[in-house]
Amino acid sequence: MSETPSTFSGYYKSTYQGKTALTARPPWDIGEPQTPFVEIQKAGLIKGEVLDAGCGNGEISLFLAAEGHHVTGIDIAEGAIARRTAGGGAEALATFAVRRALDLSAYESRFETVVDCGCSTPCPRRRRRYAAELHRATSPGPVPTCSR
Ligand SMILES: C[S@@+](CC[C@H](N)C(=O)[O-])C[C@H]1O[C@@H](n2cnc3c(N)ncnc32)[C@H](O)[C@@H]1O
Repeated sequence: MSETPSTFSGYYKSTYQGKTALTARPPWDIGEPQTPFVEIQKAGLIKGEVLDAGCGNGEISLFLAAEGHHVTGIDIAEGAIARRTAGGGAEALATFAVRRALDLSAYESRFETVVDCGCSTPCPRRRRRYAAELHRATSPGPVPTCSR
């Protein structure tokens, strides 16, 4: 039976447990990394150690790890992390953790690149705090530009 959770985090957690209307396969789960992230990797814009915030099933994390990046994928939903499948040798360069993107104190100045596919969008009221946490977790450096 499906639930209607009252919070975004509750919604995601329930979805990965198969308890919401999106039971079979959430629309964002396409079984491969989302195309724009493949493109920015090919464009050379992914640098250094990478945080994949709201990694879901980890497709982007595993793709970037297979390309040689050290990647940490975090997600608030235990079910997402539990479901992710490792691909070949990429597993050695990818680490996954159940963690809130709104508290990145464990990763002080650690990452050079952050990728986010759908983690920041659901809750506009918290974006300022999220941005501050990303600032905390990233190392100072030049901002890459994309000409698309
Ligand atoms: C639309 S899904 C996208 C998943 C994945 N990035 C992908 O491209 O397939 C958004 C993800 O963000 C996660 N998420 C939402 N809010 C979060 C938060 N505050 N901290 C960590 N993860 C969060 C959800 O559990 C969900 O897996």
